[in-house]
Amino acid sequence: MGRVAIVTGGTRGIGEAICKRLQRQGHTVIANYAGNEEKARAFTGATGIPAYRWDVGDHAATLEGCARVEADHGPVDIVVNNAGITRDGTLHKMSFEDWNEVLRINLGGCFNMAKATFPGMRERGWGRIVNIGSINGQAGQYGQVNYAAAKSGIHGFTKALAQEGAKFGVTVNAIAPGYIDTDMVAAVPAPVLEKIVAKIPVGRLGMAEEIARGVAFLTSENGGFMTGSTMSINGGQHMY
Ligand code: CAA
Repeated sequence: MGRVAIVTGGTRGIGEAICKRLQRQGHTVIANYAGNEEKARAFTGATGIPAYRWDVGDHAATLEGCARVEADHGPVDIVVNNAGITRDGTLHKMSFEDWNEVLRINLGGCFNMAKATFPGMRERGWGRIVNIGSINGQAGQYGQVNYAAAKSGIHGFTKALAQEGAKFGVTVNAIAPGYIDTDMVAAVPAPVLEKIVAKIPVGRLGMAEEIARGVAFLTSENGGFMTGSTMSINGGQHMY
């Protein structure tokens, strides 16, 4: 059955692969994006998936953005909280702004999206929320106190909201990707990335589509008994 799905940060990287996969599953997919207008236009041109612009870290903008999507397409039954940024640096070099922006967008975005969509799912008795966490939220990562804290927070947020949604047919799960071949990972300095890849048992970076396949399962009718879990898709880099 086709449902309305929003994927935040949906026009690039992992989010783009998730949008395409959910579209192939027969859903009406809406991509949210924050800044890259040119990429969003190209994405919509290539896929036919509408892209709506708002900052998921902005509470009022998120409520307004989701209301616009619902007015245009109907009630939102599937949310994939994928939007995220990095501002890497060791603690002694990290500014308060770098700390705060990562928490505001990566973790605050999940809260804001849930505030906008969870009440409707609860009332209708069906919903799927998938939060994209990270291996670095499970294991920590040198130079990422902000990102690791936000992603670890996402895993706790997931388990708490899953308990609230369970009796209303709303599942809430997380996926913890490892290092996936995207612009975000390409920004890691090459010698550092080489050392990281050397420690991945599968011996390569993951592909965005490999995360999208996990999302497809978690958002399906068949995923109804799985809630509050974290699906680790990381090539064996961290067995958790
Ligand atoms: N463990 C221990 N020491 C480390 C280390 C590590 N993992 N990485 C670097 N160091 C050490 C270096 O050896 C160096 O030590 P010396 O000065 O004694 O030689 C010291 O730390 C400083 O290192 P840099 O010169 O690299 O310092 P920098 O300030 O220029 O950069 C950094 C630091 C920003 C953290 C950089 O190392 C970096 O970008 N690291 C990668 C961080 C990372 O993995 N980010 C993931 C982004 S992708 C993502 O987040 C997606 C996802 O979910 C997986």
